[in-house]
Amino acid sequence: MDYCDWVNVKDHLETDEQGWLATPEVHDLQVKPINKLLETAKIRDMIEVGCASGHLASRIDGIEYIGLDKNPTFLDMSRRRNPTKKFYQEDIRNLPGKWSADLVVCFAVLKHFHLTEWRSIFANVLACGQKYAIVEIPDPLQRQDLDGNHIGVDRTVEDVCYDFPHVWVRKEEIIELAHHLDWELIDLQDTGRKELVYIFKKRNGK
Ligand SMILES: C[S@@+](CC[C@H](N)C(=O)[O-])C[C@H]1O[C@@H](n2cnc3c(N)ncnc32)[C@H](O)[C@@H]1O
Repeated sequence: MDYCDWVNVKDHLETDEQGWLATPEVHDLQVKPINKLLETAKIRDMIEVGCASGHLASRIDGIEYIGLDKNPTFLDMSRRRNPTKKFYQEDIRNLPGKWSADLVVCFAVLKHFHLTEWRSIFANVLACGQKYAIVEIPDPLQRQDLDGNHIGVDRTVEDVCYDFPHVWVRKEEIIELAHHLDWELIDLQDTGRKELVYIFKKRNGK
């Protein structure tokens, strides 16, 4: 079970084309660390895991881009929006050994997996990166309930919001897990939207 089973995309087509998945401010925030990295690091290609309807993809220029998502309806939207870019149907659980690029990015996806499988999903995403990884994960210190009340905690915690899981993982735990997987944190950005964006560099990445 995952987000794709909880959210019926066909019921939300209009929303996904014009609503929260199409919010330019969100993609402004997402593209910022990518462009910063592209200015300073040698990156030839990137993979976006959970590309949804291809809004971030449309902001990427100058490098080879591959978008992966489990949902075929989203992938059709992505292809329509980005006819020159590549999109493939893939389950985040099956990534390792199949996909590889200098940079892997994953925004607003990891939070929707239960904590029981969260660590392996996180590892799967990083396994696609040869040099750099950018991942967005909600910060438990900034946790809010559905009414927007602050209920921050200093521990990893899982809520259920709108029928699907919403995990908030402690910063220290993420950095330690990444370290264990041979990645080091090189930058950390607060999106101001209750999430932190982690920028990792692979230890032996050239
Ligand atoms: C909340 S949306 C985020 C979309 C986009 N990254 C953004 O920031 O706007 C979560 C995305 O993850 C995809 N997704 C959910 N479960 C997945 C899985 N098991 N494998 C691959 N993609 C999955 C969904 O189809 C959806 O496009």
